Order: sequence, then C-alpha cells, then structure tokens
Amino acid sequence: MKVTVDEDRCRGHGICCALCPEVFDLGEDGYSEVLTPEVPPGSEEMARAAIAQCPERAISET
Ligand code: F3S
Repeated sequence: MKVTVDEDRCRGHGICCALCPEVFDLGEDGYSEVLTPEVPPGSEEMARAAIAQCPERAISET
C-alpha cells in the first residue's frame, strides 16, 4: 500500500497526522507530508482511516 497527499487539496487539518503519525506529519508549511510513501504493514489500517477522514479528500491510496 502506498499513499500520496495532494498538496493542492490539503488544508492542514492534521487529522491524518493524529491518526497515523508513522506515515503523515505536518511540515513547516502546515500541510501534510508523507514520511514513508510505502505504508508499513502495521499502519495500513490507520492510513486507510486517515484517507477516509481527511475532510478535503486530499489523501489517495496508490
Ligand atoms: Fe491535510 Fe487532510 Fe491531513 S487536509 S493535514 S491531508 S487530514
């Protein structure tokens, strides 16, 4: 499983970072950064939760 964040859609809500800090972090610009595009197997469930709960639908599974 791989994930990407659409920088044009992200508004910095931070839900992804709270749910799955192994994969997402808020960068200095206040928007989400993907720490590891290849999601570790143990983090897939929370990565999917982040995808589902991002209000801007900015996260995609690739
Ligand atoms: Fe951005 Fe959505 Fe996360 S708006 S900070 S990708 S919850």
